[in-house]
Amino acid sequence: MKKLVGEHIQTLKPYVPGKPLEELQRELGVDDPIKLASNENPLGPSPRAVEAMGAVLKSNHFYPDGASYRMREAIAEAHGVSREEVLTGNGSNEVLTMAVRTFCRSGSDVALMPEYSFAAYGIVSQAQDVEVRKVPVKEGFVNDLDGLLDAVDERTKIVFLANPNNPTGTSVSGTDLRRFLERLPDDVVALVDEAYHEYVRAEAYESALEMRDAHERLIVTRTFSKVYGLAGVRAGYGIAPAEMVGFMDRIREPFNSNMMAQVCVPAALSDREFIERSVTVNEEGRRALEEGLAGLADRGVSWTPSETNFLLVKLPVEARPVYDAMLRLGVIVRPMAGYGLPEHLRISLAEAVHMERCLGALERALDQVEGGR
Ligand SMILES: Cc1ncc(COP(=O)(O)O)c(C=O)c1O
Repeated sequence: MKKLVGEHIQTLKPYVPGKPLEELQRELGVDDPIKLASNENPLGPSPRAVEAMGAVLKSNHFYPDGASYRMREAIAEAHGVSREEVLTGNGSNEVLTMAVRTFCRSGSDVALMPEYSFAAYGIVSQAQDVEVRKVPVKEGFVNDLDGLLDAVDERTKIVFLANPNNPTGTSVSGTDLRRFLERLPDDVVALVDEAYHEYVRAEAYESALEMRDAHERLIVTRTFSKVYGLAGVRAGYGIAPAEMVGFMDRIREPFNSNMMAQVCVPAALSDREFIERSVTVNEEGRRALEEGLAGLADRGVSWTPSETNFLLVKLPVEARPVYDAMLRLGVIVRPMAGYGLPEHLRISLAEAVHMERCLGALERALDQVEGGR
């Protein structure tokens, strides 16, 4: 196969998702496990979206609208942009892929990303034989925008920036982001990923959608997988100048947004009450988890303040055995060794009662791991 498969595919490490509940039940026979591993909405989907999907179940023998007309229209309306400035994807992940495939040349171009950021940026770039360069972060896991600018050279074609960032949960200010976008060379695409936008509390934060005048080649992505509770539907989008959308649209898979996604997105966007409730539950979860973690500070546990629906938690020991012990207690979190953070776990926020259960499991797991040393 060496002759057949390019070096960039041979060395590609595939994405490792959070462990599904069903898999844990199958492997360990754990009753009533909880999943806090993939930053999903603990409340489930927006009820309006569920209703909309129910109404088209019997129409699934038809292909969906290849142009996703209503879905794009609803997104465009929500943001006050034109339909031609909206590109929908099979999850926002697919928008990342389409951006790299459209704007980067295989074998010569470079993609930049912060050191501890969403793994998909590296994967979709390497899959297209685009070299990935990672830029170190600042103190407290804050993304270094000046560092990213300094790393730009004539081969750089795209810069990925998640704001707020996964897996660190940190954000950059609107002022800093605008300055970054203004200084980025005109021929470099800025992809600002706002998957966790709705959870942000920091006053200094501003969406890049307010800065479309600052950089012509700007793509802002959002997703329905987080606060809208629709990760299973695979629906996301990018907003960019119509000319850029037009080119990305050329390489888009036919029918990439499925029928469920197309009908539930307008409904989910209109369900403001559900979004507010989801954010409230997230804040309750944050308080419960932070309080519990503060109680473990004397054992060497700490966390990074987060603007998202998860916390990056640092342990006094290697995280993998703690993660394994928590699995046996029916709690799925996410080990971060694959991100270069072997002593960290990422824990999704959920209802306070689930946070209590997670804290109990974490404490017992630490006892087991530290006791066994
Ligand atoms: C920063 C970031 N962007 C994008 C995604 C992927 O979202 P989607 O489900 O829309 O593909 C995630 C999912 O965890 C994420 O953390």
